[in-house]
Parts: sequence; structure tokens; C-alpha cells
Amino acid sequence: MAKIMLQGVFREDQTAESKGQAVADINKLLDGALQQVRNVSYLLHPPLLDEVGLRSALGWYVDGLSKRSGIEITMGTQPLDFPRLAPELETTLFRVIQEALTNVFRHSQARKAYVILERKESEIAVTVRDDGVGVPDEIAEFRPDSIGVGIGGMRQRIKELGGELALRKAHPGTSVEAVIPIGAVQSEGRSVPVTAR
Ligand SMILES: Nc1ncnc2c1ncn2[C@@H]1O[C@H](COP(=O)(O)OP(=O)(O)OP(=O)(O)O)[C@@H](O)[C@H]1O
Ligand SMILES: [Mg+2]
Repeated sequence: MAKIMLQGVFREDQTAESKGQAVADINKLLDGALQQVRNVSYLLHPPLLDEVGLRSALGWYVDGLSKRSGIEITMGTQPLDFPRLAPELETTLFRVIQEALTNVFRHSQARKAYVILERKESEIAVTVRDDGVGVPDEIAEFRPDSIGVGIGGMRQRIKELGGELALRKAHPGTSVEAVIPIGAVQSEGRSVPVTAR
């Protein structure tokens, strides 16, 4: 769009006024595009996460959503003093929990929800449970024409790290369960231990 508008600016038959307007419009478009790039890179890796770590970033997110939604959301970690993980793993876990809780907010009609984040010997286990209406069977079975971008993306991210996602009816409500191996994450061709950063 900006390119087409630029052509107009260079055309002989345009008045100075319309050129001025076109330049202003192009400026606005580019500002919008830049903002979008920022949003996308933020979505891929929120700076807050890097700074404060998964536990604090999640605590902050969960508190905010609790207030906005009126759903009583609690979070627990095991161990309490949850260790830092590789950036890719922290980002994936943050995104997965964020999407699961957004779904709780949008679809479940739950009054309460909880998040459990567990560091096991060789994997991280996450549970997001709500006491709402429960997921339809076709969603829990990941039928391709039923799941949305949210669950599809969540599943994809988890798979990329060698993990697995399951959605279960919890009577009442839904339990979203993800397990991701801690392993060693490839970074710039080197293999780095996931907890050391
Ligand atoms: N916690 C939940 N309780 C009840 N239903 C749920 C829950 N989570 C997901 N669902 C159902 O699964 C469907 C698919 O979820 P998914 O996140 O893939 O898509 P979405 O939330 O509809 O849209 P988006 O792509 O924006 O995330 C939802 O539309 C909803 O019907
Ligand atoms: Mg969703």
C-alpha cells in the first residue's frame, strides 16, 4: 500500500497539496507497520519474561486476568522457588498458559481456575484447570475442523519442543495438560543446558 502511494507522490500531475496528504498517509501507514512488527516480536518473546523469569511474569499475568475477568485464578509452582529455564521453553510455557487462560475466560464460564507448573526430573508439566462448562469432545480430540488457531498453535509450539498437549473433560470443567521435556535446547548451534543461563 505504501509503495502504491509513493508512486502517486512522484507523479507529475498531482498537486502539491495531494502529495503532502499522500506523504502524511504513508507516514501513518509506516508507523502502523512498525507498531505491528513490535507487537509481533513482543508476542514471540515478551521482554518482561527475560527479565523477571517465568514465575513472576505468570504471577503478574494471572493477577491481571483475575481482576479483569472476575474469575478466581490461583497459581502454584513446584518447587516454590521455580528455576529459570531456556528462553524458548519459558516463552512456550508462558504462551501456552496465556492461551489456556484466555480460553477459560472466553469459553468456559468458570468461576475458578488454577495453574500448576511443575519441574519434574526431566520435564516440565503444566496444568490449567477450570470449573466451567467443559470442552466439546471434538475439541478434546483435536479434530482439525473444530480447533481454532489458539489450541492449534499451542499444540504446535509444544510439539516443536518435543512435548505433548492433552485436553480433558474434568467434570466439572476442563483440564489442559502439557508436558515438555527439559532436555537441552539448541541455540546457535551449541547445546546449552536448559537451566543454566
Ligand atoms: N476452557 C475451555 N472451556 C470450554 N471450552 C473451551 C475451553 N477451551 C477451549 N474451548 C473450546 O475450544 C474451541 C477452540 O479453542 P481455540 O483456542 O482453538 O480457539 P478459539 O479460542 O475459539 O479462538 P482463537 O483461535 O482466537 O484462540 C473454543 O472455541 C471453545 O469452544
Ligand atoms: Mg483460544
